[in-house]
Amino acid sequence: MHAPVRDLEAHGQGAPLSAVAKLDGILAGLNPEQRRGVVTTEGPVLVLAGAGSGKTRVITVRIAHLLAKGVDPRAILALTFTNKAAAEMRERVAGLVGKASAEPLTLGTFHAFCLKLLKEHGTLLGYPRGFTICDSSDQIAVLRGALRELRVAETSIQPGALHSRISLEKNKLVSAAAFLGKAADDREELIGKAWLRYEEHLLRAQHGLRRSAAERGQAPRGSSQVKQALAAR
Ligand SMILES: Nc1ncnc2c1ncn2[C@@H]1O[C@H](COP(=O)(O)OP(=O)(O)O)[C@@H](O)[C@H]1O
Ligand SMILES: [Mg+2]
Repeated sequence: MHAPVRDLEAHGQGAPLSAVAKLDGILAGLNPEQRRGVVTTEGPVLVLAGAGSGKTRVITVRIAHLLAKGVDPRAILALTFTNKAAAEMRERVAGLVGKASAEPLTLGTFHAFCLKLLKEHGTLLGYPRGFTICDSSDQIAVLRGALRELRVAETSIQPGALHSRISLEKNKLVSAAAFLGKAADDREELIGKAWLRYEEHLLRAQHGLRRSAAERGQAPRGSSQVKQALAAR
């Protein structure tokens, strides 16, 4: 008889998923809703269910199913909110398809994945390879500086409010230049100008940091160095 999926998932180093029969066995261990979530591979699928009800199992078996169908593992992306969930996902997928087959999958947190993308392609945005990430207090400090340079009183636009607005616009994929271009009033124009200046400062801090780190023959270390570079201006 087929081994239950729970056992297959539990053993972190399961045998490679070679036979279709094995996949059938795995699918047989799902309830009808789970199975539908697994075999519906065209178009979006939303699985909404309570804790411990088998959502992760849908995702792990879905990945095994895609691999068994011949989908290139490099074309599969699985994102989680936490590192713990990502580790669990990797282990459970490995339990189903074997460690070697699970290895080329892109599986991690949103943050880790986005960081990896930026490390590989950030140069397209003008960032040096060894960029550092500013935390929100660094970001607010840079915005405060940008507002000061533009002689905007913090009572008229607060750095925190500016930060939120920029985040909101970025979520809509609006760039600083595009935002400034369609500014509807004086306030939006100021926000756009401060945003542009903010980006210039970030880029210059990163490049300045790279240069000075390179001069010292060291790799840049952390956001506190970006902060120092920004404060030094
Ligand atoms: N159809 C099923 N039959 C038996 N056990 C299941 C089934 N679906 C999930 N499980 C088991 O129930 C537990 C919770 O499943 P999991 O996928 O982690 O849930 P969720 O992600 O929704 O919290 C796991 O031990 C899993 O192996
Ligand atoms: Mg889960």
